Amino acid sequence: MAKAYKLQSPPGPKPWPVIGNLHILNLKRPYQTMLELSKKYGSIYSIHMGPRKVVVLSGYETVKDALVKYGNQFEERSRVPIFERLFNGKGKPFEIKKVLNASVANVIVSVLFGKRFDYQDPQFLRLLTLIGENVKLIGSSRIVLFNMFPVLGFLLRSHKKVLRNRDEIFFFIRMTLLEHHQNLDKNDPRSFIDAFLLRQQEENDISADYFNEENLLALVSNLFAAGTETTATTLRWGVTLMMRYPEVQEKVHDEIVKVVGSAQPRIEHRTQMPYTDAVVHEIQRFADILPTSLPHETTTDVIFKNYYIPKGTEVIPLLTSVLQDPTQWETPDTFNPAHFLNSKGSFVKKEAFMPFSVGRRMCAGEPLAKMELFLFFASLMQKFTFLPPHGVSNLDLDLTPDPGFTIQPRPHKIRALLRASAL
Ligand code: HEM
Repeated sequence: MAKAYKLQSPPGPKPWPVIGNLHILNLKRPYQTMLELSKKYGSIYSIHMGPRKVVVLSGYETVKDALVKYGNQFEERSRVPIFERLFNGKGKPFEIKKVLNASVANVIVSVLFGKRFDYQDPQFLRLLTLIGENVKLIGSSRIVLFNMFPVLGFLLRSHKKVLRNRDEIFFFIRMTLLEHHQNLDKNDPRSFIDAFLLRQQEENDISADYFNEENLLALVSNLFAAGTETTATTLRWGVTLMMRYPEVQEKVHDEIVKVVGSAQPRIEHRTQMPYTDAVVHEIQRFADILPTSLPHETTTDVIFKNYYIPKGTEVIPLLTSVLQDPTQWETPDTFNPAHFLNSKGSFVKKEAFMPFSVGRRMCAGEPLAKMELFLFFASLMQKFTFLPPHGVSNLDLDLTPDPGFTIQPRPHKIRALLRASAL
């Protein structure tokens, strides 16, 4: 099969020996280079990340076809060297990151640990700092290089820091697991950890391969990180965009007052709040926090759109190219809630809205994340007006993202004025 289709390998820039296409790659923002290359080579092309050949899928049609129609063939998760090492498999202007991270983290913490942390708890804050640092470092040029040339790990200091941070996170989680072990009551499981430990006891040897302590450790730390950074980063984009577009912020607030009043927003309100719903969707589309998704890997040799892709090839579904696909969005580069509204102001779903990816390996936390985004955003917009610091015009707010594993807004100082209706 490989022979017959040899000529139909996806095209791409010519690689140099050893470094591959490194010389043309923007290491801080690889997805931008990938987007540029898709204009030249089309919706399926290959790029050499160091010595490794990777296939990039670009645009709504192609990404959807690969992840949905060809879901089986593209479903494997690719092994990223840094992940392998990590898991062995009010008032004056302030920075909103810490408090948003802590509130969002407490949601997943209550599921995993069955409790909430105080926002000032030093151990909790330390844990969030460690996760934040790792998310930033994992997207750094040095780690992008490490993933291409894992043997150079010893030269890359950031890689060591990522592992040191991982060790500290693991130490904390190991202590928590021990506590749960000691207090485990099979008649009263109070958390994900308790449920896992009870299942471990029930199954005993039968599924020891899965229900073991190392897997629990990896699961809890993965869910903690995946459940915190993504949602909190999207909410920070939300606050930043509302400062940049105050007229949108006012319309959201007006709708909340009309539908919810001063009660606590609930998920059932969402269908009566098409404008707010559209704004939350547009925040996610515009923020595009995981532009290259997580890498996939082909499970078999596959012929996809007349190209031959061998088994075991790393595949990047370029979500940024879908969320900005000019055939799918009227103003792909501009923040525009009308993307999700019809002429009557009702909410409309868009097939090309795929910040959580699609298909068999799509985000496992999507329902939780969508609920959290709506409830946090509506509650914040109900109670506060978000403004840039005195002397800074909303038009001066820089929306160029900060590089990192998740795409973050630049740190902006924020004024959060309590609304009269919230007093
Ligand atoms: C705005 C919030 C979020 C966004 C944009 C997001 C996005 C994504 C994306 C793009 C993927 C890769 C899907 C693929 O490979 O096709 C993913 C995977 C995943 N996400 Fe999320 N996510 C978010 C929130 C969450 C939350 C709150 C949780 C957990 C509670 C979570 C847990 C996971 C897990 C476990 C995976 C791996 C699934 C697998 O490998 O099969 N995510 N997410």
